[in-house]
Amino acid sequence: MKPVKVGLLGLGTVGTGVVRIVQGHQEDLQSQVGSPLSIAKILVKDRDKTRNIPIDKSKLTEDPWEIVRDPEIDVIVEVMGGILQTKEVILEALERGKHVVTANKDLMALHGPEILAKAQERGCDVLYEASVAGGIPIIRTLIEGFSSDRITKIMGIVNGTTNYILTKMSQEGAAYGDVLKEAQALGYAEADPTSDVEGLDAARKMTILATLGFRANISLEDVSAKGISTVTQEDIRFAKQLGYEVKLLGIAERQDDFISVGVQPTLVKRSHPLASVNGVYNAVYVHGEAVGETMFYGPGAGEMPTATSVVADLVAVVKNMKLGVNGRQGLLSYKVKKLKTDEQIASKFFLLLHVDDRAGVLAQIANVFSACDVSIESVMQPSTPDQSGAELIIITHDANKAAMKRV
Ligand code: NAP
Ligand code: HSE
Repeated sequence: MKPVKVGLLGLGTVGTGVVRIVQGHQEDLQSQVGSPLSIAKILVKDRDKTRNIPIDKSKLTEDPWEIVRDPEIDVIVEVMGGILQTKEVILEALERGKHVVTANKDLMALHGPEILAKAQERGCDVLYEASVAGGIPIIRTLIEGFSSDRITKIMGIVNGTTNYILTKMSQEGAAYGDVLKEAQALGYAEADPTSDVEGLDAARKMTILATLGFRANISLEDVSAKGISTVTQEDIRFAKQLGYEVKLLGIAERQDDFISVGVQPTLVKRSHPLASVNGVYNAVYVHGEAVGETMFYGPGAGEMPTATSVVADLVAVVKNMKLGVNGRQGLLSYKVKKLKTDEQIASKFFLLLHVDDRAGVLAQIANVFSACDVSIESVMQPSTPDQSGAELIIITHDANKAAMKRV
């Protein structure tokens, strides 16, 4: 039986997992697709680097074009990361009729529409299940599982690094900087953790989820992003006293065809299922008009969970090859995008203010809120015996984002 030949771009965390699964589960995979799967060539930056798995060194190359231009290779699995050069490589692979599986959320969030258009033009598949929430099959769920429904809300804990940091800060009272270092050492964070902690990684993932969920081309510029680098131990402590956990949530909502997508630290009621998603785990909550509430939970990163999604995509591509139906996915984004303005996006807000402890301060603050047309729901002044000033916790009624910016 002729094997299906795979060109693997990258042999880092995810690439190593892909090799392990393709080799270790070969018999099962072959039974499902009807051919052996063979990793024919592997792209690396440094051929001489010591690898975590035994690998036939003759398969390694440092030249991406050697793989992409090899007529024997049927499918490219891209797990090298990067954006511009990687896009060039993928477009060339598609031009040559090769199918593509990628775990690259940066690439798909920024250039997904162009890559998918090229795939459709060339009759090729581009699958990217591992790009959001690593081991959770959420992309296939949004495309296929909810094809019959109209999704109204997607809320996601889609960045493992920040969830790990917030969990440790909440459960162990650990300091932000110390836990970030730990998350980097454990391999959860991106090479430059700024994109994790400032919410950009989550914003890119929410761009992908919102595009699929609302069937409209949401771009990264449409997604507001605020990360956790300014969240303090006090914020978390006071939120807990009020019955909330602080989570970095991506929230995408659709109301009367108007969409908003944002990522921000959010107080989640302890009774909500997202509040108990801890550590490096991810979860995506989806509300549909017909189905109601659903939630998907699992590992959001790591070698084997991410590789599971990558190889599942590979299986789907090969099954399509056997059926001769690659590139037939059709238009995923067929709706005209209408975005909410900041005046139309409303929620409650939590503020922690450090103020002088003297008469009239609260009244002045209340005046500012009132002048900006923001209504206060509750005010708390916890006792702070050993400090000169005071801490005020203010929770607003639903207030629009524009008014809160003025406050
Ligand atoms: P990684 O450990 O840094 O591995 C990257 C691999 O690609 C390495 O083998 C590296 O070669 C090779 N590489 C990178 N740039 C190259 C270039 N210009 N030319 C040749 N080879 C190059 O990365 P990773 O964590 O596996 O992540 C890979 C992709 O999966 C990224 O898009 C990431 O966002 C995505 N992803 C990762 C996870 C996760 O848990 N890690 C989860 C979901 C999605 P050397 O080995 O020689 O250095
Ligand atoms: N840095 C990412 C995270 C890896 O922490 O979730 C998975 O995309």
